[in-house]
Amino acid sequence: MKAVLIPGDGIGPEIAQSVESITKAMNLDIEWEKYRAGAEYAKETGEVFEPGLVEAIEKYQWALKGPTATPIGTGFRSVNVALRQKFETYANVRPIRSFQGIDSKYENIDLVIIRENTEDLYKGIEYMLNKDIANGVKLITREASERICRYAFEYAKINNRHKVTAVHKANIMKYTDGLFLEAFRDVAKCYPEIEAQEVIVDNMCMQLVLRPETFDVLVAPNLYGDIVSDLCAGLVGGLGFAPSGNIGDQYRIYEAVHGSAPDIAGQNIANPSALLLAFALMLEDMGKQQSAQTLREALSKVVAKQEVITPDIGGHATTTEFVQAIIDEL
Ligand code: NAI
Repeated sequence: MKAVLIPGDGIGPEIAQSVESITKAMNLDIEWEKYRAGAEYAKETGEVFEPGLVEAIEKYQWALKGPTATPIGTGFRSVNVALRQKFETYANVRPIRSFQGIDSKYENIDLVIIRENTEDLYKGIEYMLNKDIANGVKLITREASERICRYAFEYAKINNRHKVTAVHKANIMKYTDGLFLEAFRDVAKCYPEIEAQEVIVDNMCMQLVLRPETFDVLVAPNLYGDIVSDLCAGLVGGLGFAPSGNIGDQYRIYEAVHGSAPDIAGQNIANPSALLLAFALMLEDMGKQQSAQTLREALSKVVAKQEVITPDIGGHATTTEFVQAIIDEL
């Protein structure tokens, strides 16, 4: 089957190469069609996406994306936000698991964050009221809130999880977060077998740092979901091992949670683990559970051995050597 690969900016092409090497080594029946997107492509051409990219995702429905750089404050809109909105990948799913061999605050963490991906402050409705006052719109709809909450409860049901926690600030934002919470309560009624819990976002951050093991599936509007997921990645040792899936009814775009790491780009020392784990998520959703598990196990073994690992996790290996070690374990 065919799928789209977007290498992206900075370390993106180096870690995307790892995915291609693993696909070949595992003899997977996935043929990657590569397209450029992001800041470097925009600098060269004035366009954010290479022609044909959008059509290819429409055709193949599966895509794996490397990090793309976004200028802060000015310039073009984020490629990620544009893709999520274009393909209605309304659920950002981020599993957070401890990884053996990675120095982290906690062991045995296994929770999943399900973040609404299409609206809230990230809708990009912002403007200058005058040169000294900027205004941004927090857009929350019942439809999108119910859709993401239903996704979270269905996810819990299918994956044998027992609790869904809504993250909100409805005590202050009574209309927007209030609506999200109302949708959560309505949807929760249809899943009496799953515990429904509500936690205010600031308290949620503290509880996650103190007692992460008490949470199972979290569901949140876009902004809180973004922040809380990086906090959770920190609980298990940082962004180096954090994958995510952007899931819609028709299209699915998987990516590493980290950015384009311009400080180490082009040096062949980037850690490709997060993108490989995103690839494993994709394989799982494609119904290739065994391949996903094989890839995860091989990666885990290499990291746990601590012999051939990249500098960000305390080693001296290059990206190429690290990937070769994974291939040797497969
Ligand atoms: P970043 O995640 O790129 O880098 C933060 C730090 O982590 C850096 O020291 C970097 O070297 C290190 N790092 C990140 N990934 C690594 C990897 N795989 N292996 C080894 N070290 C790694 O975050 P930053 O610097 O805030 O953002 C850089 C650019 O990436 C920005 O333009 C930002 O907009 C973009 N970005 C893109 C994302 C995406 O496409 N999904 C997500 C986050 C940021």
